[in-house]
Amino acid sequence: MILVTAATGQVGREIVRLLAAAGPVRAMVRDPAAAALPEDVEVAAATFEDGGAMAAAMAGAETVFLAGRDGPGYASQQARAIDVAARVGVRHVVKLSAVGAAAGSPVELMRDHHAGEERLRSSGMAWTFLRPHLYMQNLLRLTGPVAGEGRLAAPMGDGAYPFVDTRDVAAAAAAVLRDPAAHTGRAYALTGPRAVGYAEVARLMAAIVGRDARYEALAPERFRAELEAAGIPAWRAADLAAIASAYADADNRPADGVAELAGRPPTPIERFLADHRAALTAGASRSHA
Ligand SMILES: NC(=O)c1ccc[n+]([C@@H]2O[C@H](COP(=O)([O-])OP(=O)(O)OC[C@H]3O[C@@H](n4cnc5c(N)ncnc54)[C@H](OP(=O)(O)O)[C@@H]3O)[C@@H](O)[C@H]2O)c1
Repeated sequence: MILVTAATGQVGREIVRLLAAAGPVRAMVRDPAAAALPEDVEVAAATFEDGGAMAAAMAGAETVFLAGRDGPGYASQQARAIDVAARVGVRHVVKLSAVGAAAGSPVELMRDHHAGEERLRSSGMAWTFLRPHLYMQNLLRLTGPVAGEGRLAAPMGDGAYPFVDTRDVAAAAAAVLRDPAAHTGRAYALTGPRAVGYAEVARLMAAIVGRDARYEALAPERFRAELEAAGIPAWRAADLAAIASAYADADNRPADGVAELAGRPPTPIERFLADHRAALTAGASRSHA
């Protein structure tokens, strides 16, 4: 049995869909009534804060997919999940981590991912780390300002980043979960096929919503202050503002993890944006309202 945590998340939900098509899968969710997962999926109610409920959810599972939501409690949530998995006899944990995970990262979520990886390495269980780069799906949040003001403002400097589609992350994860022993002790960087700068992202999005748009590189400190003024929690504002600095040059080169695991090339950003044309143009019409 495979247990998928964070099964209502962007990546987890798609993993559950892919695995359910081929065999039994159990989904750990906080609220079964709201989970809206396929009917043939076994659902277990648990949170990362509740060790007892997690133990019941993980009982009988040989393999666990471990993801979650970044935040102040994330490191302890992951540590608890790893400890419970080891205690109930899980053999292999596949951890969703991130490109840039490092003890000395300026970004807290990267330090948390590193701590989770280290905890897993010393857990006695077999492990695999999946380290995606920035999700293409993050870009959908920028649709409103692109469509409304012709402006894509972000603290990403003039770097180029190999954004990855979460559908590819899920396909790679599902392949590992189906045959975990083949991936024991491996860490995979999951990226898109090429690095793309934000000026090009602005042009590509603008072409879809039907107007000109340009990228404005914001100073991280200004971006952080704007987010905080808009009510975003301080930890999240700090992480989002500093994220570009979490990547070394080598991190921003495309990697072959998706092709190796999913058995097909990763999704180009042009196809991702075309696939989300409806969401992008809906954002455009909202921003004119
Ligand atoms: N965004 C990026 O560019 C990027 C890049 C690389 C790596 N990542 C990593 O990807 C991960 C997020 O993956 P995602 O986007 O698939 O997730 P997501 O869509 O943000 O969903 C988070 C999931 O975690 C569950 N969750 C949150 N708190 C929980 C708790 N206390 N107990 C149990 N479940 C809880 C949520 O359940 P509910 O539905 O109940 O809220 C949901 O299923 C993060 O660790 C992030 O660092 C992100």
